[in-house]
Amino acid sequence: MKLCMIGTGYVGLVSGVCFSDLGNTVYCVDKNKEKIKSLNKGHIPIYEPGLEEMVKRNYKQKRLIFTSDLKYAVEKTDIIFICVGTPTKRGGNSADLKYVFQVVNQLKKYIKKYKIVITKSTVPVTTGDRIEKILKKQKLKKIVDIVSNPEFLREGEAIRDFISPDRVIIGTDSVKANRILKSLYLPIIKKTSRYFNTSRRGAELIKYASNAFLATKISYINEIANLCEKTGVDIKDISYGIGSDQRIGERFLRAGPAYGGSCFPKDTRALIDTAKLFKTNLSIVKSVIKSNDYRKLLLTHKVNKILKNKIKNKTITFLGVTFKPNTDDMREASSLFMIPKLNKNGAKIRYFDPSGKKNDFENLKNVNFCKDISSACYKSDLIIIHTEWNEFKLLNFKKLTKKRNCIIFDMRNIYSPIKMRREKIKYFGIGR
Ligand code: UGA
Repeated sequence: MKLCMIGTGYVGLVSGVCFSDLGNTVYCVDKNKEKIKSLNKGHIPIYEPGLEEMVKRNYKQKRLIFTSDLKYAVEKTDIIFICVGTPTKRGGNSADLKYVFQVVNQLKKYIKKYKIVITKSTVPVTTGDRIEKILKKQKLKKIVDIVSNPEFLREGEAIRDFISPDRVIIGTDSVKANRILKSLYLPIIKKTSRYFNTSRRGAELIKYASNAFLATKISYINEIANLCEKTGVDIKDISYGIGSDQRIGERFLRAGPAYGGSCFPKDTRALIDTAKLFKTNLSIVKSVIKSNDYRKLLLTHKVNKILKNKIKNKTITFLGVTFKPNTDDMREASSLFMIPKLNKNGAKIRYFDPSGKKNDFENLKNVNFCKDISSACYKSDLIIIHTEWNEFKLLNFKKLTKKRNCIIFDMRNIYSPIKMRREKIKYFGIGR
C-alpha cells in the first residue's frame, strides 16, 4: 500500500519506518526541511534502539521516502496519517491542535480522489468531527474517510510495540476504510493482539483513557510505597502480590520517582480539560496529577533527610536523568525538578546519562555532566539511581566511590537491600 506519514516525530517516524518494513511504500513528510535533509542523509533525529538500521534498510529498498513536499506525497498515496505533535497549550491544560489543523487545511487543497485520513496523533475526543467539518466544506466528504487510529508505542520499545501490539484500534464507521486498514495491519495482527473497530470518538477516548489509567496505576503504587516505608514492608512484594491477580496485572506497578515523559503528564492534563468542556469531573485523574507533582518534592525531601539536612557543599551524583531508560528524552523527567532544587540548596551535582549531556542543566553552576560512571561516582557523598539504564544494574559502589561509607538512593529499586547491608553500604530504596 502507499502511505503518507505527516510529521517525522516519534510516532510518525517509527510507524512510517515499521510500515515500510512490512513492504508498504511510505512517504514521510515534514515541513522542517533541515530534518528531511538530514533524514535523507541517514541521520535519525531521535534515540530509539534499532530504528537507524531499519531506516537504512528500507530507504535503500526505496520503500521509504523523506520529503517536505506534502502535495507530492498526498498525490502519491492513498492512506494519510497525521502524526504531528499535540503539546499542552501554553498557560493551560488543553492539547494544542494548531499543527493538526494546519495539516488539515493543507490537505483540503491537495486531496482530489479517495483517501483515508487518519489521526495517529493523540487528539481529544471529537477532534475527528472537527476535521470532518473542514474537509466536508470542500465537498470532500464522499472522497475522504476520517479515521482515528491511536498509537500505543513506548519510547525505547517503540519498534517492538509496533510489531507486536496488544491491540490495534480503528475508529471509523466506514466499512470501506475499515476493510482497507484491516488489511494494512494484517501482518502484525497475531493471535495475541486484537484488531478492534470502534467509533471514531471511541478510539480518540481510548487513547487518553489508557494513558490516564497507566498513570493512575503508577501513582497508586507510588503512594502505597510511601506507606510501605512507614510500615517496614517491601513494595516489590506488594507489586508482586497484587499484580499476580489477573484483574490487576503485574505491569506498570514499579514504584519509583514521579512518572514523566512526553505523554502521561500532557495527556492526563488534556483529559481533565476535555472532561471540563463536557461538564464532567474526573476527580481520580486530577488526584493522580497532584500526587505525581507532589512526588517530585517528596523525593527531594527524602534526599535531604538521607543527608541529615546538611546538603550544602555535598556532592550528589545522579545516575541517569532521562524520564526512563533507552531514550534521550528529558521531557517532564523528575530530575528536571530535583537537580535544580538540590543545587539551589547548595549541593554540587554530578550526573552521567548514557544518552549524553543535557542542555537543561547548562546554566546551572555546580551541575556537571561526567563522561562515565566512575568519574561521576568518585568520592561522591550520595549516589542517586534516577533512571534504570542497564549499565547501572551491576555496579560495585565501593570501588567506584573509593569510599567505605558510600550512600546509595536507588529510586528504581534495582539493588537488593539485603546484599547492600551485607556489603555495609548505606542503602535507601523506594518503599522498602
Ligand atoms: C506511554 C505509554 O506507555 C504508551 O503506551 C503510549 O503510546 C505513549 O505514552 C504515548 O502516549 O505516546 P512512554 O511515555 O514512552 O509511553 O513511557 P512509559 O514506558 O509508559 O513510561 C512513562 C513513565 O512512567 C516513565 O517515567 C516511567 O519511568 C514511569 N513508570 C512506568 C513507572 O514509574 N513505573 C512503571 O511501572 C512504569
